[in-house]
Amino acid sequence: MAEHNTQPAASGPKGHHSHKKHGFTGQIGFVMAAAGSAVGVGNLWRFPYLAAKDGGGLFILIYLILTFTFGFTLLTSDIAIGRRTGKNSIKAYAEMSPKWSFLGILTFLVPVLIMTYYAVIGGWITRYIVVYLTDQNQLAAQDSFFTDFITSPSQSTLYAVIFMLLTAWIVFNGVEKGIEQCSKILMPVMLVMIVAIAIFALTLTHTDEAGVTRTGLQGLAVYLTPSFEGLTVKRFLQILLDAMSQIFFSLSVSMGIMITYGSYIKKDVDVNASIHQIEFFDTGVALLAGMMIIPSIFVFEGVEGMKAGPSLMFISLPKVFASMPNLGRFVGLAFFLMAAFAALTSCVSVLETIAANCMEIFHTKRKPTTISLTLLYTAASVIIALGYSKFYVELPLPNGSIGQLLDLMDYISNSFMMPFISMLSAILIGWVVGPDWIVEEVEYGGRKFGLKGLYRVMIKYVVPVIMFILFLQSAGILNI
Ligand code: PHE
Repeated sequence: MAEHNTQPAASGPKGHHSHKKHGFTGQIGFVMAAAGSAVGVGNLWRFPYLAAKDGGGLFILIYLILTFTFGFTLLTSDIAIGRRTGKNSIKAYAEMSPKWSFLGILTFLVPVLIMTYYAVIGGWITRYIVVYLTDQNQLAAQDSFFTDFITSPSQSTLYAVIFMLLTAWIVFNGVEKGIEQCSKILMPVMLVMIVAIAIFALTLTHTDEAGVTRTGLQGLAVYLTPSFEGLTVKRFLQILLDAMSQIFFSLSVSMGIMITYGSYIKKDVDVNASIHQIEFFDTGVALLAGMMIIPSIFVFEGVEGMKAGPSLMFISLPKVFASMPNLGRFVGLAFFLMAAFAALTSCVSVLETIAANCMEIFHTKRKPTTISLTLLYTAASVIIALGYSKFYVELPLPNGSIGQLLDLMDYISNSFMMPFISMLSAILIGWVVGPDWIVEEVEYGGRKFGLKGLYRVMIKYVVPVIMFILFLQSAGILNI
């Protein structure tokens, strides 16, 4: 039932709002900003370790298929909702269906939670930039370096606050002069850097104490070859779930960010083409990150080194940089600079989404809104950063792991809320307003929407069911 009567009469032609005063100057600005949000620590740190853990090429294959089906559906929905309503999540969902206003509020809560810890991770990266700038390469390679840093109250809060203020400065400067400008510079630079480091990683060779020589190209084979070892149905489902939750996180969908960015695009932009470009950018960087990290770790530490999991980026990689004769310091600096660019553009998108929702609801101006939020989130970041020292806790999470404050925020926002939100918004789009509501927006101005058949099936049937399973799994109800 396509109930278009939920459209307020004030909407533009056919219920499409006209473009807002502030926004991206054009398609490139939008794609760079959205890719800036999508490409973040998830691509650099989480994707490679999941690939290493989940059977290399097998994970990559599953990930690619899911990106171009699930990822595409969720990204299209968010961006089209944003552009069609011209509003941010809270008001956008209320406009789609007043009864579903709660979904807008729920969606808004995801960036509200993520913002409490994203600057803390950005701060960790910034700390490593300083390490390599000041030539403390060997120091960073020590086992205890990372732990000493995050458990030092003064150090960890200092860097979190620096990163928070950088983010705030960009948001303070607005959509066009802040976000678009910085994404247009940082994203291409980041891409060049990651390609260069990935190529360099493939040229590495190292002979260890036992006399075994390993090369970067062998590492690449380890990364790309599908491993079916010990593959059971249960394990396959686990890999599917890992890939699925990684896609959410990586594409920044179901948290209102892409709704906000979508609300800033002009009506003449080709939404469908932009979405494909964002997907390619995000997936490309994830693949390159694996191509850079897995061979480097393999060359210096062998297959065993890849089991490091989450500590791959902050503990294993510095060791690799320290083992590289001469060049290590520069490669380390390039790597963490690139990571900082990726994290900064993501952090900006989170703060922007919160600020844009607040401005819309409280009718406030950008500058005072940004300043208030900055004060609030500087305090929140300090608390989360202190979660490894003064406020140290050991919290059992439903997935069986023990986490600190940061992990708790991450778990609630990503593992728990995102599948739930995706499920509900797929039901809203598929069954309440109807998929045509989205399709019309993508096709606005006579544009092509080549995969609309796929979109319809995905949003009505596949997404709700799979998200429900994912939600049960992360809530600890279903135990795959
Ligand atoms: N998409 C980002 C990444 O892959 C993560 C992110 C999540 C960014 C939530 C903003 C908000 O790292």
